[in-house]
Amino acid sequence: MISPVTPIGIEALSLYAPPFYLDLDDLGKARGVDPRKYRVGLAQDEMAMCPPDEDAVTMGAAAAAAALRQVDASKIGVVMLATESGIDQSKAGAIYIHGLLDLPRACWCFELKQACCSSTMGLHTALALVAQRPDRKVLVVASDIARYGLGTPGEPTQGAGAVAMVISAEPRLVAFDTAVGSYTADEMDFWRPNYLREAQVDGKHSIRVYLEALEHAWRDYREQGGAPYASLDRFCYHLPFNKMGQKAHQHLARISHGEAPQAGMAEAQAYGRRIGNTYTASLYVGLASLLETDPEDLTGRRIGFFSYGSGCMGSFFSGRVMPGYREALDAERHHRLLHDRHRLSIGTYEAWHRHDLPEDGSDYETPRVSDGPFRLAGIRDHQRQYERVETAPAASDLAEAETEVALADA
Ligand code: HMG
Repeated sequence: MISPVTPIGIEALSLYAPPFYLDLDDLGKARGVDPRKYRVGLAQDEMAMCPPDEDAVTMGAAAAAAALRQVDASKIGVVMLATESGIDQSKAGAIYIHGLLDLPRACWCFELKQACCSSTMGLHTALALVAQRPDRKVLVVASDIARYGLGTPGEPTQGAGAVAMVISAEPRLVAFDTAVGSYTADEMDFWRPNYLREAQVDGKHSIRVYLEALEHAWRDYREQGGAPYASLDRFCYHLPFNKMGQKAHQHLARISHGEAPQAGMAEAQAYGRRIGNTYTASLYVGLASLLETDPEDLTGRRIGFFSYGSGCMGSFFSGRVMPGYREALDAERHHRLLHDRHRLSIGTYEAWHRHDLPEDGSDYETPRVSDGPFRLAGIRDHQRQYERVETAPAASDLAEAETEVALADA
């Protein structure tokens, strides 16, 4: 019951985080909040910030381009984009990514929505599609900008980033078990109406509902034949902020009458501490973080995953780490990505936060800020103009552009 006959799972996994971040000590100072509330209370250090010339599509394309370098891209038959930061009500962001990456025309492309767990629905759908046709590979992209109002309690739990996973019958990283626990309840813990740029949230309620969803999804996972608690070696949780993962871990141990093992917990949270909430991408940022920073050889170890999406849905599932997984990791690129980022001043952060694209239909040219591989060049005739960046701007140009945007929008 636990493992499928043919292993299906993640063949390649790559991240993208924008090249800018805000240090939470700077945020604490600006808001008159003890920085230990962020570093200890929320267990977060930094949050990635999306520059004005990037969005869910450019970030998703950057992660996907990196993942596809490791596989035979001509076998991609489906592209899914899971996002809460969609750019169009009709056309799927997955089609823009498909076009930017010049993927095969014999392909399905669509977008998925159910808050942070739509990426997991994408993963489960991909596993079924590959089981149906094992010759095809499915590209699941999760990309988001987590955004709350300036000065609100949610502000330190923002972030931005993307993950791309190639799901196939040749998994080199993780092969998934068949048992999946599910839970849905109609809740108003976090939502974003079409006319608002920032999420609405009932923070304390969202934490309670997250834990309830975990409990129900876990019990369902066990009823579906999922592995007993004691046989799970590592855990990855959706991480809106790292302390939430720690609360979830304690809760799962309590309801399973077990200890909460600490091995791998800090490792699974290492990237999230620096990137912040990436909504749909968060759980899989945690998986990359675990596989790339855990000093132990995880070959054959079983990982328990909990995916949560406000509104709300939860899914508990598990998978085993494949032999030779270390050779298939994109770890060096990820370390460079995090290391080479620019620290924003609080002034620039706030200016970027207030900055928005015109909503009156006028054409717009976006200032060149990002040094990522794809950028949003502007809007013409109501159409977003994306471009591949051949040469990255020098760091001094970036600083100048950063200032220009800050000044233009102050
Ligand atoms: P808050 O009310 O400002 O914070 O908002 P608090 O007063 O509850 O403090 C937070 C923690 O810091 C507490 O620890 C304090 O004790 C501690 P806890 O008791 O919880 O363990 N603290 C300190 N520690 C050390 N030194 C100090 C200090 N001061 C306080 N000086 C809240 C916190 C998370 C509610 C807020 O940031 C928020 O609303 N965030 C957004 C919502 C969210 O992330 N919810 C999580 C569950 S919902 C979810 O995961 C889905 C989501 O990703 C969206 C989606 O699905 O699409 C959000």
